[in-house]
Amino acid sequence: MTISCVILCGGGHTRVLIDALQAAGKVVPYGILDSDPNLWGTEMFGIPILGDDTLLPKLIGQPVTHFVVGLGGNSKIRQRLFEKGFSASLEPMAVIHPAAVCSRWAELGQGVQLLPGSIVNPGAKLGANVIINSGAIVEHDCSIGDYVHVATGAKLAGTVSVGPHAYIGAGATIKQNINIGEGAIVGAGAVVIKDVPPHTVVAGVPARPLYDEDLKA
Ligand SMILES: CC(C)(COP(=O)(O)OP(=O)(O)OC[C@H]1O[C@@H](n2cnc3c(N)ncnc32)[C@H](O)[C@@H]1OP(=O)(O)O)[C@@H](O)C(=O)NCCC(=O)NCCS
Repeated sequence: MTISCVILCGGGHTRVLIDALQAAGKVVPYGILDSDPNLWGTEMFGIPILGDDTLLPKLIGQPVTHFVVGLGGNSKIRQRLFEKGFSASLEPMAVIHPAAVCSRWAELGQGVQLLPGSIVNPGAKLGANVIINSGAIVEHDCSIGDYVHVATGAKLAGTVSVGPHAYIGAGATIKQNINIGEGAIVGAGAVVIKDVPPHTVVAGVPARPLYDEDLKA
């Protein structure tokens, strides 16, 4: 049976997800819901943008059974969209590009997204709605919390732990056994050789905090 899903949010990341779903060929995106009225009635790679998420209840009874969070940025908004999909009685859909490599010994949370060229090795545990973006590597026994985004080309060595809502910037490298705290941000190209406290922004080689105050303020 073909599965049909609705995509919550229509931006640049959504285009990558549609491409991955179409390449995998098992799921048909039924439509996209986005809050921008300028997008309503338009299409993205042949998928119609139907309206905003007030349409969600109306999709019940349509062939839609699953949802995908289409946003790549702000993890708090991604969490809100994820919960919205659930509250509409839809199931989260994992998006796994056929060119992603994922060990049979990895554990994947609901609605994870593994994009082209990403690698997830044995013993890795990924939480809900984690994004492993194109070409990123999550080595053996890493633990990745809910709503984390590991951006394009970032590399996590073995047994790295990343707290929920953290963001690992493009091309960053994290040394083995490092802990990245909840909500922390690692800048693009950083090399992280020390633990990063929660809600802290680090950047550079080696990575150091960018700001005195943390992100909770
Ligand atoms: C680290 C980051 C979050 C900081 O963003 P910000 O708070 O808006 O910071 P700003 O751009 O105002 O820069 C502040 C300072 O940090 C420096 N800086 C910013 N990002 C840096 C990085 N990745 N590496 C080294 N230095 C960096 C800036 O040069 C600036 O220095 P200055 O004050 O001496 O001029 C951001 O630059 C970043 O790297 N984001 C990741 C983006 C990414 O990977 N996207 C992938 C999408 S798939």
